[in-house]
Amino acid sequence: MKLFIDTANVEHIKEMADLGIISGVTTNPSLIAKEGRDFKEVIKEITAIVDGPISGEVISTDADKMFEEAKEITKIHKNMLVKLPLTEAGLKATKLCKEAGIKTNVTLVFSSNQALMAARAGATYVSPFVGRLSDTLHDGIEVVADIKRIFDVHNLDTKIISASIRNPKQLSESALVGADIATVPYDVLKKSITHPLTDKGLKAFLDDWNKTFGDKK
Ligand code: E4P
Repeated sequence: MKLFIDTANVEHIKEMADLGIISGVTTNPSLIAKEGRDFKEVIKEITAIVDGPISGEVISTDADKMFEEAKEITKIHKNMLVKLPLTEAGLKATKLCKEAGIKTNVTLVFSSNQALMAARAGATYVSPFVGRLSDTLHDGIEVVADIKRIFDVHNLDTKIISASIRNPKQLSESALVGADIATVPYDVLKKSITHPLTDKGLKAFLDDWNKTFGDKK
């Protein structure tokens, strides 16, 4: 499973890109608004940091306007994916994008049927929202697992991005059920890197070395 970072914070993206662990970035209107910066400017900076798929989301709700926005978004950089919501207008825009050779990430997916609709409309990626589902009585990971089975059984080549990840457990479970990608917030990536036993083990190694050899390398 590949890792994308789910943020529009350029410093956080740079920090994680320097570790070599991320191969793409997802943004959404809320994440861009949180940074309070111009959409195109932020996206351009991101494309200079990460050489992989970068999702920029439309804000129109009408299919033709979504398609116009999609064309503008892809002009920013060759790595841009256009994020479209799973609505009837979003599906229509997905179809138009597919016909125009524009790659899409269909977002706000909360059921396996919605994912199937997106795949049939020609989506390059679908983003089931694991965390938001699991915040309710549903199991977001089960939805990702169902989508994976449906796509495998019916030979659909749309890729699954496990999104709205809230914690390291959801990240690990996304990998276990076969999501192609997980898009992960900065704090969950940080939490997934560290382990108290790693810190404890490293301290013991260095203490043992220093006791015998001092600071000799
Ligand atoms: C998906 O690409 C979205 O940007 C994101 O994962 C939404 O997550 P949230 O539920 O934390 O807002």
